[in-house]
Amino acid sequence: MNALVVYESMFGNTEAIARAVAEGLGIGFEVTVADVRAMPVVGDTDLLVVGAPAHAFGVGPYRTRVVATWHGMAKVRVREVGLREYLGCSPWLPQVRAAAFDTNLYKPSLPGSAARMADRRLRVLGCTMVAAAESFHLAGIKGPLVDGELDRARRWAGTLAGTMRPVLPL
Ligand SMILES: Cc1cc2nc3c(=O)[nH]c(=O)nc-3n(C[C@H](O)[C@H](O)[C@H](O)COP(=O)(O)O)c2cc1C
Repeated sequence: MNALVVYESMFGNTEAIARAVAEGLGIGFEVTVADVRAMPVVGDTDLLVVGAPAHAFGVGPYRTRVVATWHGMAKVRVREVGLREYLGCSPWLPQVRAAAFDTNLYKPSLPGSAARMADRRLRVLGCTMVAAAESFHLAGIKGPLVDGELDRARRWAGTLAGTMRPVLPL
């Protein structure tokens, strides 16, 4: 089976979670991890996992990525394409199973969820969701990830993989 993990990331934390998800999918998957800026083609993907940072209570538009560069003291380049644009121009994907995650602040816990927003869009595109939208937490805007979140991402991916295995007759 083919899995595609697509991430948007300004400071690297969502990318780290995406790579942990790829590890957690385990054997049985040919996994591709792709930056959303590459606009990866879903093609014959069986499982699509998308992840983005929470920006302004959801999947951020271009302007929140500009604001993120201010936090990065100009070391971070603006991303022209984010998950919002990627999913916004995606074709119909009725053959694809999918799941969404985000990274967000642990404290303060802000309302809204990029993962839930992405989940809703994936459903509109015809995907079958295999898990509820999941969030992984950061200690600050630029990170680091809260201790244990990479392991939790691997375990979460394991549950996704479990939904894809055919049930063998006894
Ligand atoms: C412009 C901007 C808006 C943000 N809005 C939220 C928010 O609404 N809720 C939240 O929990 N975190 C928010 N954050 C923190 C981001 O979620 C955090 O920077 C992100 O998870 C880091 O992931 P990355 O390293 O992949 O960019 C915001 C950060 C920026 C720069």
